[in-house]
Amino acid sequence: MNIKLSTKNVHIGKLRHQLRQLGKSLQREHVMPVITIDGPAASGKGVIAGMLAQEMRWNLLDSGVFYRAVAYVAQERGVERGQVDLIELARNPPFFLCRPAPWLPPSVFFEGRDITRFVRTEEIADIASKIATIGEVRGALMLRMLAEKNTPGLIADGRDMGTVVFPDATIKIFTVSQLEVRAKRRFEQAMEDKGEGSLLGIMQTIQMRDRRDEMRAIAPLKPAKNAIIIDSSQMTVVETFCHVVSGLIGRNEAPLHSVTK
Ligand code: DC
Repeated sequence: MNIKLSTKNVHIGKLRHQLRQLGKSLQREHVMPVITIDGPAASGKGVIAGMLAQEMRWNLLDSGVFYRAVAYVAQERGVERGQVDLIELARNPPFFLCRPAPWLPPSVFFEGRDITRFVRTEEIADIASKIATIGEVRGALMLRMLAEKNTPGLIADGRDMGTVVFPDATIKIFTVSQLEVRAKRRFEQAMEDKGEGSLLGIMQTIQMRDRRDEMRAIAPLKPAKNAIIIDSSQMTVVETFCHVVSGLIGRNEAPLHSVTK
């Protein structure tokens, strides 16, 4: 995680302190507190989840990486959607996730190779979204995700973290952002990584993927009914982070008021 929050800004410094205090208070009140962050593709949930986990020193669960890793191996092995092999892949994944610290994003290894960078592509994300419609695959991966819940707490990001995997999560966030803004973020990332990309192409792929994730019968992408909705369309990463932290603090102080609104 390369993003550093400027400590020159006194408000951010104060917010970071408040966040750590919030983490301690949640740890006192709950056995293993969970904060979920769901949202559509490129809505900023992964970055925000990483920042929260790093600040709070909590475990980080990037659930998308599980679907992406299965998708990558399926593609490598020529396994097709609907084949029994695909479910078997999810039940006994031949990849493993490795991280230097529990709050850092994992690297993915397969057959002795670091495949993290390949797993992160939009092409693999699209296959992951198709694979994610299969109930048995979701069931098998969910068991692995539940095992990530550990002390002192968990920050989990994905599509169904607050609705299906951790329905009793302590606080739930749902990030949204305009399609054009999200596509631009992925386009800039593609230009940085590969030096090429098509803004229109990325926009169409993301739109199709969101639609598929929203329309599927099992664990569709949608906000949990008590989630705090954060729209990051007009915000920088740091501004979004500040809004999320304020939302978490507010929800922890006035849980019932916020839920009934
Ligand atoms: O978060 P991501 O972009 O890495 O996810 C890639 C795909 O994986 C996403 O389009 C759908 C699927 N996914 C899912 O169905 N449920 C999750 N909790 C996370 C990801």
